[in-house]
Amino acid sequence: MFFRRNYEYNFRSDIWGGSMDSFKALLIEERDGTVSCAFKQVGEVELDAGEVTIRVAYSSVNYKDALAATGSGKIIRRFPCVGGIDMSGLVIGSTDPRFRVGDAVIATSFDLGVAHHGGYAEVARVPAAWVVPLPAGLSLYEAMALGTAGFTAALAVVRMEENCLTPAKGSVIVTGATGGVGSLAVNMLAKRGYHVVALTGKESEATYLRSLGAAEVLLRQSLDLSKIRPLDRARWAGAVDNLGGDVLAWIASTMEQGGVIASIGLAASMQLNTTVAPFILRGVSLLGIDSGYIGEPYRQSVWQRLASDLRPPHLAEMSRRIAFEALPETFVEYISGHAKGRVVVEIAGG
Ligand SMILES: NC(=O)c1ccc[n+]([C@@H]2O[C@H](COP(=O)([O-])OP(=O)(O)OC[C@H]3O[C@@H](n4cnc5c(N)ncnc54)[C@H](OP(=O)(O)O)[C@@H]3O)[C@@H](O)[C@H]2O)c1
Repeated sequence: MFFRRNYEYNFRSDIWGGSMDSFKALLIEERDGTVSCAFKQVGEVELDAGEVTIRVAYSSVNYKDALAATGSGKIIRRFPCVGGIDMSGLVIGSTDPRFRVGDAVIATSFDLGVAHHGGYAEVARVPAAWVVPLPAGLSLYEAMALGTAGFTAALAVVRMEENCLTPAKGSVIVTGATGGVGSLAVNMLAKRGYHVVALTGKESEATYLRSLGAAEVLLRQSLDLSKIRPLDRARWAGAVDNLGGDVLAWIASTMEQGGVIASIGLAASMQLNTTVAPFILRGVSLLGIDSGYIGEPYRQSVWQRLASDLRPPHLAEMSRRIAFEALPETFVEYISGHAKGRVVVEIAGG
């Protein structure tokens, strides 16, 4: 029987049409130091501890998912682990009074897909503290078109505006612009009236970026990063950085007085070699964005805003749906830097 006794009190059999004993999952394993992933049948007894059991409708693909599943980054903290840092779906069992059977919910980040079985499975069981009710106005599909990438882009906008960024202050640069976080950040900022400059390595995607609202598209290859001065011509009131490394160092040196940088990613490098000049001579603020473990007051309110004023108007155009089985080949696109927009993984659908 799939449910333990304490889950039975509110179980409604119409939510779940599949086998209760085992379900399909993309399991990441390590053998002799080599990481690989494969589709396996996982039993109910193998689920991790948690108060909320979810029939997963959709998951998504983030750079971190690709690093984890391919072993390209030391992401997984416990083997074996079902991949997938994001999921949306319907509650099929709950011992937490905040969630009832049939509720539509989202769970992203925390230990999902790295130290706790994640969203690449037909069923997941997670701690209630990681679960957010699906906000009114978002579908289960749209929640995953946003996923961790959308939550992170929105968190960056919220944190930058808390630090006094407004459209009147000047331009905002977004790096890794064609990626998941980048595309969503461009679209959200443009909707809010910012003059967005999209920095990309993909010349062929200039039209795409302009369609999302970028006022200017700057090619990464056009930058001379061989000699970055402590302070250079001030150009940006705000910056959303997904790359790290020399690009982030260059951004720091080209920020305007009182500018704010949201440091999100390391797609280019983990390193940051800069000086204190931008911070002490131009009052620049470097904001660390960690969507992984941020709780309240941000988690629920940011999701609410993603369904309302921060909702990206071009969400449908920048996302595509893939079958569960297509995950392994999709990871390769991410690792090779060819990712564009958002990928939603259809698990049970909704
Ligand atoms: N801090 C957090 O809480 C948090 C949350 C989510 C993601 N992240 C991090 O944010 C970054 C972006 O995540 P994502 O899911 O949007 O990834 P993604 O969809 O794979 O996009 C990354 C983009 O960065 C650019 N890029 C990739 N490899 C590069 C390289 N070697 N050198 C320079 N540019 C490169 C590409 O854009 P262009 O070709 O357009 O330049 C690519 O599309 C990742 O580092 C991820 O780990 C952090």
